[in-house]
Amino acid sequence: ASGELPDRLGRPMRDLRISITDRCNFRCVYCMPKAVFGRDYAFLDRDELLSFDEIVRIARVAAAHGVEKLRLTGGEPLLRRGVEELVARLAELRTPDGRPLELALTTNGAALAVKARALRDAGLTRVTVSLDSLDDAKFQEMNDVRFPVARVLAGIDAAHEAGLGPIKLNMVVKRGLNDDEVVAMARHFKGTPYTLRFIEYMDVGTSNGWDLAEVVPSAEIVERIGAELPLVPIGRSAPGETAARWRYADGEGEIGVISSVTNAFCGTCNRARISTEGRLFTCLFASEGHDLRAILRGGADDAELARAMAAIWGARDDRYSELRATLTPELRAARPKIEMSYIGG
Ligand code: GTP
Ligand code: 5AD
Ligand code: SF4
Ligand code: SF4
Repeated sequence: ASGELPDRLGRPMRDLRISITDRCNFRCVYCMPKAVFGRDYAFLDRDELLSFDEIVRIARVAAAHGVEKLRLTGGEPLLRRGVEELVARLAELRTPDGRPLELALTTNGAALAVKARALRDAGLTRVTVSLDSLDDAKFQEMNDVRFPVARVLAGIDAAHEAGLGPIKLNMVVKRGLNDDEVVAMARHFKGTPYTLRFIEYMDVGTSNGWDLAEVVPSAEIVERIGAELPLVPIGRSAPGETAARWRYADGEGEIGVISSVTNAFCGTCNRARISTEGRLFTCLFASEGHDLRAILRGGADDAELARAMAAIWGARDDRYSELRATLTPELRAARPKIEMSYIGG
């Protein structure tokens, strides 16, 4: 049976974000700080990960119940062996009325120069690439593994040439670290095929030492850019979209701002997340997920899996980003939260 799945706040499940590995070749200071994700950090074992068969089953059931967009995340999704094969299998899925799903991937771009063509051929529709700085020294400081920015820029161009698009670029802005580059980044990508999005640094997980003072409010970003490159608001392109959009007054493209701290968008949040080991999370900031892998490996058929997912989504009342402001720093710190590298952002 197909049908919509409204949660307790009336929000449908539209967007499924699937983390396919908890590993990453970067150690971004705001996501996988080396002090926590060091040499002896215990990542998941291979048999703990959802298999491609299991991922495809979950996605197929989700597509039968209103999901129209799949996004592969990580860790770094391009590190998962055979990712092109997984993309090809997901590209075969259809909505109940026969449309293919939108199939996207969020990557650090390190492997794009090598993999873009194969991903496109496999049926990937879009990529979003994280890019926090154009300054090579700063970029290397932020990824903390000395990865040169030029290789990511080459990967972005390779993705564009391969026909993966429209391509979005994500810049996480952290005050005192890279906020001095906001206008330079905007200028650099203005008039290119790429849409740059500025992301407020979030208190995801518990290892990044988040401090509200390090968040640069989107209003400030828009003001700083707009002072030099005039901007006009154009709103969101779809209900539930993370980014508010602004276009350049001279017609040379647009930017987006993702304001999960200063202007939460929980009211329209239609995103479900599957962790690397197959737990369904109903919020980026949830403390616990629901073990779909146990259901799959226990021999459930698709109907049983669908019932379990419907029950979990139906009980959903998460809206952490809206509640954040009401929490004291102590309450916030005491709250267990899942790491970004495990749930994929
Ligand atoms: P598009 O489909 O291209 O618009 O992608 P997206 O914005 O949904 O996903 P992406 O992986 O590019 O994420 C951009 C930023 O938004 C990241 O910092 C994510 O962590 C954040 N983000 C995505 N979804 C949510 C959400 O549901 N809640 C919050 N608070 N942040 C989110
Ligand atoms: N706050 C905001 N965005 C983050 N990302 C990773 N950690 C954080 C954080 N603490 C971004 C990545 C990637 C996207 C999926 O999430 O840079 O672009
Ligand atoms: Fe890796 Fe992305 Fe996290 Fe950076 S933000 S450590 S690239 S998963
Ligand atoms: Fe959705 Fe949770 Fe993010 Fe709010 S904080 S937009 S409910 S994932």
